[in-house]
Amino acid sequence: MSSPQYHPDRAAPASTVPAESGVGDAPLRIGIIGAGAMGRKHADIIGRNGLTKLVAVADPATTALAEQYGVPHFKDYRTLLDAGGVDALIIANPNGSHVPTALDCLSAGLPALLEKPIATSYSEAANLVRAVGAGETPILMGHHRRHHPAVKATKDTISRGDLGRLVAISGTWLTKKPDTYFDQTWRTVPGAGVMLINLVHDLDLFRHLCGEIVSVQAKSSNAIRKFAVEDTASVIVEFENGALGSFIISDAVVAPWGWDQVTEDDPAFPFNPSLSCYRIAGTRGALDFPQMAKFHHEGPSNWHHPLSMSFEPKGLGDSYTRQLSHFIDVVRGDAIPEVSVVDGARSLAVIEAAQKAARTGRTVQISEIIGHDAASVS
Ligand SMILES: NC(=O)c1ccc[n+]([C@@H]2O[C@H](COP(=O)([O-])OP(=O)(O)OC[C@H]3O[C@@H](n4cnc5c(N)ncnc54)[C@H](O)[C@@H]3O)[C@@H](O)[C@H]2O)c1
Repeated sequence: MSSPQYHPDRAAPASTVPAESGVGDAPLRIGIIGAGAMGRKHADIIGRNGLTKLVAVADPATTALAEQYGVPHFKDYRTLLDAGGVDALIIANPNGSHVPTALDCLSAGLPALLEKPIATSYSEAANLVRAVGAGETPILMGHHRRHHPAVKATKDTISRGDLGRLVAISGTWLTKKPDTYFDQTWRTVPGAGVMLINLVHDLDLFRHLCGEIVSVQAKSSNAIRKFAVEDTASVIVEFENGALGSFIISDAVVAPWGWDQVTEDDPAFPFNPSLSCYRIAGTRGALDFPQMAKFHHEGPSNWHHPLSMSFEPKGLGDSYTRQLSHFIDVVRGDAIPEVSVVDGARSLAVIEAAQKAARTGRTVQISEIIGHDAASVS
């Protein structure tokens, strides 16, 4: 079996997928569904990994990615699933198509890495959670940031008790997407918006690092872009353990404080090594993320005393590469998904609660969103 090849100048062949086996030590044969910005990103990560090979692409609107990699193109992803010859799929089509596409992959018995958000509504996500629970085919949620080394180091720092009892977390994601980003109209209508597209990443990490969120207050605004969905939001969350969190997010401002600009996770974004996006504080200390600067008092804690600062090691690597390595393990049956559809549904429930809170002006309990499904996603 040859290593994954990158064929920038080969035309896409006829729509049949090579029937090589993807088992054993052979590269895992991956198909991509949705060949836009994220599909292209996944193709690049697959091409850099010696254990994976892009073998097919499905997209109703463009053949460019298939042509770039010299692999078969399918207008309809269901034809790709029927053609066989793939071991796993990466689903990177628009948010509203995630659940039906994932259900079709499950029916075909094919594991999938499903981009976030899992769905555009919690009830739709719950259908997928039930389907995954009823079978044996795994789905890994594409909350890729969970695989970032600084996130792992932060989780360890908190779990060790270095910060004491968690009390407060604050976060920012403030940046300017170019106006052309919104030429894709799905990004401007319900089912998108900065909360479903971007905040879901951050609040998923808040849950991962600090525990379950039980209630949400929020304001949102579309004052700058004037789309049917928000470009800016401010959110307050309450965790099950009593800690409180706040987050401010906007895709319409010129500012440097957000995951993409401060983590060096994706070379597509300029990196500012001196800034942070989260601050986590507890009864014994605090952590600046992703700088991993940890603050504590040497003696009794007192705001008049100087704080000591040390740096937690955070390790190397980017989250997309690590996510793909984990996905390989999941597909080969060597690991269960570190980010499950249950997690995806629970993080979506927080966003849905924030949308409802912004609409109604009141505090929304997560239990109002997950209702009777609480047991299945707890
Ligand atoms: N993990 C991340 O950091 C991250 C970053 C960006 C986007 N995303 C997610 O990835 C998904 C795609 O986002 P994007 O920015 O690449 O969007 P995009 O608009 O650039 O690309 C989406 C592509 O899907 C295609 N498509 C539409 N319906 C399809 C279908 N039924 N089957 C196959 N393809 C179909 C479109 O033609 C388009 O080429 C979204 O769910 C988004 O939230 C995740």
